[in-house]
Amino acid sequence: MTSATAPAGSTADGSFLRIRELGPDDDDIVDVVFARLSPRSRYLRYQSHAAELSADVRRSLNALGGRSQVALAAFAAHRGPTGIVRIVDLGQGRAKPAVEVVDRWQGRGVGTRLLQAARDRAAALGYRELVGEVLAVNDAALGALRRVFPAIRVRRDGAALVVTMPVSGPAELVA
Ligand SMILES: CC(C)(COP(=O)(O)OP(=O)(O)OC[C@H]1O[C@@H](n2cnc3c(N)ncnc32)[C@H](O)[C@@H]1OP(=O)(O)O)[C@@H](O)C(=O)NCCC(=O)NCCS
Repeated sequence: MTSATAPAGSTADGSFLRIRELGPDDDDIVDVVFARLSPRSRYLRYQSHAAELSADVRRSLNALGGRSQVALAAFAAHRGPTGIVRIVDLGQGRAKPAVEVVDRWQGRGVGTRLLQAARDRAAALGYRELVGEVLAVNDAALGALRRVFPAIRVRRDGAALVVTMPVSGPAELVA
């Protein structure tokens, strides 16, 4: 089952985007977005340079439809899917976010829009905070997270940054 979860809108560069929730039958969309990631983006998102998703990872990415994992995809008019954000339940009011934007669309506000939609969905699901890890070299991810979650806390853990973001509903976007 899929449903629209965010009003259609535009990115900072004026590109029209629609965001909707994915369901277990949307595996083709997961595949298209993965195929449009460069090796560097795949590494930053999946910590792997593999050109294809393993069967296990693909299965877990498509295990959608309940509260345990929610995925939202952005679609550009006539261009197909441009990115996906997920929130995975960690229990005790916490969830783990993960986001990927196809390389051709990076730096155009898609990640910001997806993270806003994830923040709003997390708030609607009753999550208190999002907790995740990004590689310390991943300036784009940290920039996008800081933009959408101004109260983010960042702790260094080796090559990674542990990021903790209080979830408050749709509100403050740092300009
Ligand atoms: C991280 C990612 C999702 C960001 O999405 P995006 O659509 O490129 O980001 P946006 O265009 O919305 O930019 C948001 C902010 O990120 C920052 N940013 C974006 N690209 C950047 C870059 N290359 N270097 C530094 N900062 C960058 C900026 O601060 C930007 O804010 P601004 O508009 O005020 O300048 C995207 O780059 C991506 O998919 N990367 C590969 C996968 C990944 O790293 N996922 C995150 C780990 S789970």
